[in-house]
Amino acid sequence: MEELSSYLKFSKKIAIEAGSILSDYFGNIELINNKSTSIDLVTQADLKSEKFIIDSIQKQYPSHTIITEETNLKEKISDFRWVIDPLDGTTNFVHNLPIFAVSIGLQYKKETIVGVVYNPAVNKLFYASKNNGAYLNKKKLNISSSKTLSDSLIVTGFPYLHDKKWEILFDLFKDVYSKTRGVRRLGAAALDLCFVAMGRFEGFYEYGLKPWDICAGSIIAKEAGAKVTDWNNKQYPFSGIRILATNNNIHNEMIKILNKEKFKVFYS
Ligand code: IPD
Ligand code: CA
Ligand code: CA
Repeated sequence: MEELSSYLKFSKKIAIEAGSILSDYFGNIELINNKSTSIDLVTQADLKSEKFIIDSIQKQYPSHTIITEETNLKEKISDFRWVIDPLDGTTNFVHNLPIFAVSIGLQYKKETIVGVVYNPAVNKLFYASKNNGAYLNKKKLNISSSKTLSDSLIVTGFPYLHDKKWEILFDLFKDVYSKTRGVRRLGAAALDLCFVAMGRFEGFYEYGLKPWDICAGSIIAKEAGAKVTDWNNKQYPFSGIRILATNNNIHNEMIKILNKEKFKVFYS
């Protein structure tokens, strides 16, 4: 296996270049299409960023598998799998909110070994590689040391699909809100995880995410000292269906809420 540092270097380089593609469109986006629902958006910025990332990986690592949000590529027989969100936070992007990012994760034998999340609007590059810590630009990241849920600020998000489960997510929101200092909804899961890594939030939970939303951010959070699991406290599923990332100290308190009988619907 090539050195971890060279995968990280390559990932940072393409994240920054993809970020500059996004910057070119930021503030003057024209074409907006809907995907699964009328609020699930895709723009030419998502597609241009994704094409650039796919082309770069295919050129450098032609044998590797690539999973991306907007393109269905054929899986290859490879131990390496790139998991890409070319623009996380599309709705923010379309509304000129500078909370969006490129997210690039690399897995080896299904374990994430590199993660890069880049927000070009504020030139913030978050990155981590396995056992080497997490960084923002060159600064090492550490999770918050708050001890209890009542001293915590939490971040979450909601799926595009407004079904029965979506409504129950607001009950969960209420339960978490009532036991914490508050809950925020910023609209870019990859950055939510990085903000747990840097101690802005004590915890992040979300239902119904996809692998590309959480792959890179999860290793960044973990390498900064966070605990990242499924809502039942087991290893978080690659699918992203139920993620909980915390500063460890509040993990059990969060798990207790997420496991209430009324929220069992999220496990089926
Ligand atoms: C979305 C963001 C958002 C989350 C959504 C995701 P996109 O990704 O991460 O925070 O709540 O569920 O789908 O569509 O902007 O790449
Ligand atoms: Ca996303
Ligand atoms: Ca996206």
